[in-house]
Amino acid sequence: MNKQTTYTPKQFDLKGLNGISEKTLEMHFKLYEGYVKETNRLTQRINEFFADGQVDQEEMPAYSELTRRLGFEFNGMLLHQYYFGNLKRGGGDRPDRNSAFHQAAEASFGRYDLWRADFIGIGKMRGVGWAICYQDPVRKHLSNHWITLHEVGNVAGFTPILVMDVWEHAFLLDYEPSERPQYIEAFFSNVDWETVDKRLAAEHSAA
Ligand SMILES: [Fe+2]
Repeated sequence: MNKQTTYTPKQFDLKGLNGISEKTLEMHFKLYEGYVKETNRLTQRINEFFADGQVDQEEMPAYSELTRRLGFEFNGMLLHQYYFGNLKRGGGDRPDRNSAFHQAAEASFGRYDLWRADFIGIGKMRGVGWAICYQDPVRKHLSNHWITLHEVGNVAGFTPILVMDVWEHAFLLDYEPSERPQYIEAFFSNVDWETVDKRLAAEHSAA
């Protein structure tokens, strides 16, 4: 039986971002809070199946469905925390050349611009999801991935380093659906590269 864990929504002060309006952020924070609420609610409901110490056969369909939904809600909650957490007012379009992230991107992709082109390319992919740069905690290598919805495509054990929401709700109040590239540009102009650096494991190796 899982021990009950209750999550509390984190607060993010992102007023004054470039190209991502406060109206968008306000709506997006509400959506995020919905994921926190659902994660708590599903965890609670799943735990209730174990009140008698086991999941009975007739409970399996409901138990299975709620457990599948937990993957969606849980990742939805956590990815939004990474996303809001890697933005800040006055962020920069590019990391400092001497920063840990810049060096890690060059060690992993040859050139920083190749890392960036790959990340942006993933962000422009059609579909509903996320572009995420992960670090392999063992080899310290960076790689970019497309995540469908919130839960399909996450790499087990890898650390999210830079997370970009490309669901349409992230930009539709500010841009047309076809203007995702402009939103991606705006996203980059607000990246908190210091936070990105802090997510990296201390030592990078291109092994
Ligand atoms: Fe989102």
